[in-house]
Amino acid sequence: MELYTKRRDLEAEVAKLKKQNLDIGFVPTMGALHSGHLALVKQAAKDNEIVVVSIFVNPTQFNNKADLAHYPRTLKEDMDLLTNILETVMVFAPAPEEVYGEEAKATSYDFGGLELEMEGKFRPGHFNGVGTVLKHLFDIVKPDRAYFGEKDYQQLQIVKKLVEIEKMAVQIIGCPIYRESSGLALSSRNTRLNSVQTKASPKIYEVLKQVKEDFGTKSVEELNAWVSEQFSDDPDLKLEYFEIANAINLKTAKRKNKGEEYRAFIAVFAGEVRLIDNIALN
Ligand code: PAF
Repeated sequence: MELYTKRRDLEAEVAKLKKQNLDIGFVPTMGALHSGHLALVKQAAKDNEIVVVSIFVNPTQFNNKADLAHYPRTLKEDMDLLTNILETVMVFAPAPEEVYGEEAKATSYDFGGLELEMEGKFRPGHFNGVGTVLKHLFDIVKPDRAYFGEKDYQQLQIVKKLVEIEKMAVQIIGCPIYRESSGLALSSRNTRLNSVQTKASPKIYEVLKQVKEDFGTKSVEELNAWVSEQFSDDPDLKLEYFEIANAINLKTAKRKNKGEEYRAFIAVFAGEVRLIDNIALN
């Protein structure tokens, strides 16, 4: 494992690798790695000669200061996990100045409306931060392929759009959601759940699975109402949003149209911890 903290050192190494025509697979992360991240890293190692993992808690994508302050930072443990699964992996763990220069500032992007749906409504500016940091990281790492989990499905669609807007020569690869045995989607935030919340949170995926099962027979309106009801008097889980949306443009579905692909999306608070999940419906 090689750790890089300085942009110029990583750029120099990347230039050497590019001269040797080696394919670079890139897994951008904010650290606190879990099996979902490791699955992305393994996929990257299968598809590419070189794997780069960035570990960088990106300040510009947090619209909530407390969330940024509490985001777990576990570099030593993360490096151990990576070393256990891969002999040679390049880790880029920079300070904000290395990525942004003097001021960590987000570019304002027009992602064709993708940024205005769901997460975009509840986390204003979030996707500008994600787009900006990925533009910087792609410029530094120059990957042939970059890997993202479908748990952040809206992010995945936005990253594909970013690459189109910025005309970057990187292939974006989406990988399936990894779940705990309870069904809870793996997330770095899960470590912040207390024991009561840990017990309560598998309900999120249970609800999504039921929606998938009922999607053929119930209307969107009925399903929306049913989901709200499931959380209405839950003492541990507070529903922020539930939406059935077109899987490509992420526009909210009012009714089902023949031939369209749909997905259900959910965000729930367990205390202070915000959990998101989604499921393909057809
Ligand atoms: O999904 C994440 O962890 C982050 O949004 C990403 C893609 C690493 C950008 O900071």
